[in-house]
Amino acid sequence: MQTDVASGTAPLLRLDRLSVTFQSDDGPLPAVEELSLDLPPAAITCLVGESGCGKSLTARAVLRLLPPQARPAGRILFKGQDLLELPESRMRPLRGRHISMIFQEPMTALNPVLTVGLQAAEPLRLHLGMSRAEARAETVRLFREVGIPAAESRYGEYPHQLSGGMRQRVMIAMALSCGPDLLLADEPTTALDATLQGQILHLIREQSEARGMAVLLITHDLSVVAQMAAHVGIMYAGHLVEYGPVADIFSHPLHPYTQGLMASAPGRAGVGVRRLPAIPGSVPPLGQRGRGCPFAPRCARAYARCHEELPAERSLDGHRLRCWLPD
Ligand SMILES: Nc1ncnc2c1ncn2[C@@H]1O[C@H](COP(=O)(O)OP(=O)(O)OP(=O)(O)O)[C@@H](O)[C@H]1O
Ligand code: SF4
Ligand SMILES: [Mg+2]
Repeated sequence: MQTDVASGTAPLLRLDRLSVTFQSDDGPLPAVEELSLDLPPAAITCLVGESGCGKSLTARAVLRLLPPQARPAGRILFKGQDLLELPESRMRPLRGRHISMIFQEPMTALNPVLTVGLQAAEPLRLHLGMSRAEARAETVRLFREVGIPAAESRYGEYPHQLSGGMRQRVMIAMALSCGPDLLLADEPTTALDATLQGQILHLIREQSEARGMAVLLITHDLSVVAQMAAHVGIMYAGHLVEYGPVADIFSHPLHPYTQGLMASAPGRAGVGVRRLPAIPGSVPPLGQRGRGCPFAPRCARAYARCHEELPAERSLDGHRLRCWLPD
């Protein structure tokens, strides 16, 4: 069920059994396990799940910007080409031009010794061949578009002079500047107030629809999922445990973890639920994930098999699901 059969569009990005494993003194520690997901062009796909489930590592693997101890495996097919097979020299021109990312931590993603203007202008010069003056004018325009007040004077400031929300807007401007085919947006609006969040999300959706940009949107905000995405994937402890059309997942979640997340969502589409509801317990850290279903210690419906065997992925009622129930 990977290709979007309904719309007849081939995926722009296909994650095919993607794994990300950390090497440690205690042996390999899997953080993302055999995750398969298709992103069609001109559509927004959301990824949700509690902290530590592997959402950021999944997005970072696509750009091959993983921590040094992390090893990816599987295939990451972008326009049919496996990014994990490409030499670094062929990855570099893709980053920021064809695939861009809004990082979860704007402070660590920005260079502290360069002004935000020069950093944001660089992809325009590098990838689109703009002159210094053209790149500056375009950057100021983009800064205005993402709601940076006094954009001209902000251009010459350093990251530490900007608030978290302002840095996040710089990152968003940079990510959209070259008109990427694929945008990986990792909690892109967390530091922004509701009005600005709405404005930025509108901009992302507009670009997606107008230019056919595919978007992987990572968020904890269920109302954003409801408003923005066509499909949603639910991650738990490195696994994609459920995936399907947004309205369907909100109204008929099948996986007990998804059901827990949706439990306090009022209405069918969960509009108004800004953060993930709390489920008793927490995500097991790497190295403490048993061989069975990783959700078993928190699952009210767990039975003997759940503690022994990892559920295989299967299709049920139009969802992809990793749960033994109903078996
Ligand atoms: N550099 C690292 N070294 C060791 N473990 C790491 C590293 N980066 C991430 N991990 C571990 O990998 C797992 C997945 O991390 P990831 O950052 O992808 O989670 P996430 O779903 O994005 O969480 P959040 O919602 O908090 O951003 C976590 O258990 C995390 O502790
Ligand atoms: S496989 Fe078992 S423990 Fe895991 S979510 Fe399903 S019922 Fe719960
Ligand atoms: Mg993250």
